Amino acid sequence: MNDIVQALINRKSTRAFLEKQISLVDKNLILTASVNAPTAGNQQLYTILDITSVDVKKSLSILCDNQPFIAKAPLVLIFLADPKKWHDAYLAVGLSPRKLQIGDLVLAIDDALVASQNAVTCAESLGIGSCYIGDIMENHNEVKNLLHLPSHVFPAGMLVFGFPTEQQINRPKPARVHLKHIVHENSYRTMDHVELEEMFSPKAVDNNYEKWLTAFCNRKFNSDFSIEMSNSISKYFRDFDY
Ligand SMILES: Cc1cc2nc3c(=O)[nH]c(=O)nc-3n(C[C@H](O)[C@H](O)[C@H](O)COP(=O)(O)O)c2cc1C
Repeated sequence: MNDIVQALINRKSTRAFLEKQISLVDKNLILTASVNAPTAGNQQLYTILDITSVDVKKSLSILCDNQPFIAKAPLVLIFLADPKKWHDAYLAVGLSPRKLQIGDLVLAIDDALVASQNAVTCAESLGIGSCYIGDIMENHNEVKNLLHLPSHVFPAGMLVFGFPTEQQINRPKPARVHLKHIVHENSYRTMDHVELEEMFSPKAVDNNYEKWLTAFCNRKFNSDFSIEMSNSISKYFRDFDY
């Protein structure tokens, strides 16, 4: 196995950082790797917010479901899906572009997330850990106000970066489910109860699948945070003026 494949397989999230700054050289490498990711029609349908303000980081750490490590991260990048800038350019020279639609936003979200993953991989190669923060999509009104997001621009992903503490380096990586459940050949296969249990039961720490799944559902899907997140994302889509 080559070093790149090994690094991709070993990579895990970092949520505690050393008090060591990320150099400008490393930051520029991360950003340059990011914008060189594949991008639909070479349009780069995203804008990256480089959050340097301590106050904004603090607000984000609160708005993103109270995750204090966000405020301590030396580098915080927000990947905005941004189909608006091309539309604005078309309008600015007097063209008559069709209205932006949800489909344009979804393509831009793809673009933004492909770019963000290049940032993760580049950082990893420099010894810098990272963690996605999905909660950036929560708290629709507050995040929009804080970052001055116009309609047609959606915070697809947030990444925090920093050098991992020893504890983070030694923390075991959470296991993934078996490939055979993830890769379906040629067409989609709806998995039955038996296969679903086979897939997920290794995650049940006490070997009691139903008890574990009930707790997981309550924590991850039926919880207030999950409902709020889902409502907030739906609001961005409803806000979309099309
Ligand atoms: C879309 C997305 C959103 C995530 N949001 C958060 C988050 O808000 N907070 C957090 O601590 N980790 C977050 N993560 C990290 C996941 O929890 C982590 O990737 C997962 O548990 C697997 O662990 P690993 O990355 O260490 O392998 C997110 C990851 C993704 C891809």
